[in-house]
Amino acid sequence: MDANRAAITDMTETLRILAALPADQAQTLPGRFYTDPDYFDYEVATFLSREWHCLGRVDEIPNPGDYFTTRLFAEALLVVCGDDGQVRVLSNVCRHRGMLLAEGNGSTRRFVCSYHAWSYDRSGQLSAAPRMQEKGVDGKTCRLPEFRSEVWNGFIYANLDDAALPLAPRLQGLNQLLAPYGTQGMRHIQSFEEEWQTNWKCLVENFMESYHLSVVHPKTLHPYTPTSLSRKALSGEAFTSYCANYPDTVATRGMGADSLSPEERRRSTLFSVFPTQIASQAATLLVSFGIQPLAVDRIRVRWTLSTYGIELTQDELDTRITLWREVNLEDRIKLEKMQQALTSRHATSGHLASEDYEGTIADFHRYLARQMAVGPKITTVA
Ligand code: FES
Ligand SMILES: [Fe+2]
Repeated sequence: MDANRAAITDMTETLRILAALPADQAQTLPGRFYTDPDYFDYEVATFLSREWHCLGRVDEIPNPGDYFTTRLFAEALLVVCGDDGQVRVLSNVCRHRGMLLAEGNGSTRRFVCSYHAWSYDRSGQLSAAPRMQEKGVDGKTCRLPEFRSEVWNGFIYANLDDAALPLAPRLQGLNQLLAPYGTQGMRHIQSFEEEWQTNWKCLVENFMESYHLSVVHPKTLHPYTPTSLSRKALSGEAFTSYCANYPDTVATRGMGADSLSPEERRRSTLFSVFPTQIASQAATLLVSFGIQPLAVDRIRVRWTLSTYGIELTQDELDTRITLWREVNLEDRIKLEKMQQALTSRHATSGHLASEDYEGTIADFHRYLARQMAVGPKITTVA
C-alpha cells in the first residue's frame, strides 16, 4: 500500500471512530480532512461524483426556453425549461467539436453554437447542422446528452451517476419541516455565483452551526437569530436542520404562507441536503446555496434568493439581499482565514459544542462516514 493510500485509510478510520461518538461527546474533524488534496480526490471518487447536487431553482426558469448554465465537476451543464414545462439538465457541450454551447442565462427557442452554427432545440435535439447533409447528421441521431435530474420542493438537483438512487425518498422528514412555508412555489429574485478559497465541508459546517452567529455576525444576524435561541431540528440519512429563532422583541419578517404557525413565522429554518446544498427558509425569503467543490481549498458557490408571493416591496427585498451579501462576506472572511490555519499539524480533533449549536455538524460527519465506508466506484474499461 503506498503512503497516500495508507494515509487515506487512516483518515477514513478516524472519521468512522469520530462519527460513532455519542452526540454529547461529538468532536470536530482534524484539519487534514479539509486540506489534503489526495483526500479530496478520494471524496470525489467515493461519493461526491455520485451524489445529488442542487443546481438552482425552478423559479429561475419558469417559462419554456428559460435556461441557466452551471458546472458540476468536469461537466458543463445547461439547465433548461422545455416546451413541456419540464426541467432538463443537458450537457452544455456542442456535439460537433465540443464548444461550450450557452453561457450565463436567458431565454431562447434554440441553442445555436457560436463556432459552426449547429443548433439544438429546447429538449437538446439537434435541429440544424449547416453543410452537413451528406454526413447524415440530424436530429434523429444527434442530441445533447441529458443528466439525471430531480425537482424537489422547487430545487433542481442533478446527478452525474446514471445508477444513482432517487433523492426525494431520502428527504421525507425534511418535507415535513418545509411544507408550511410553501417552499415549492417561491418566486425567484436573484442569483449569484462566486468563488471562495475554502474546503467545501467548511462552508457546509459553517452554515449549519449556530454557535458562530452572535460572534461573527454581531450586527447582521445576532439581532434576529442569536446563538442562544437556536435549536436543532430534524435530521435524516441525507439531511440535517436547525431553527434560528427570533427574539420576542423584534418584529416578524413578513407573514408568508397562511399555513405557517406564529412560531414558524418567527424563525429561519436552516437545512442542508447533503452533501453540498445549504439553505435558509424563512416566511418570506428562501436563500439556497449550491456548493461546487473545485479543489481541496476552493469552491464555487451558486446562490439564489426567492420570495413568497408579492408581500415584500422591492425596497424590502433589496435590503434583504444586501443583508445576505454582508453575512456571506463575514462568513467568507472567516472561512478563508481558517483554511490557511487548518494545514497545521496542531489542527487536531476537539470538542463540538452542544447539540443545539453544533449537533448538525455531527450529523454531517455521520453522513460522510457512511459515504466513505462504501469506497470509490471502480470503473472498468472493456
Ligand atoms: S463546435 Fe459547435 S458547431 Fe462546431
Ligand atoms: Fe455565518
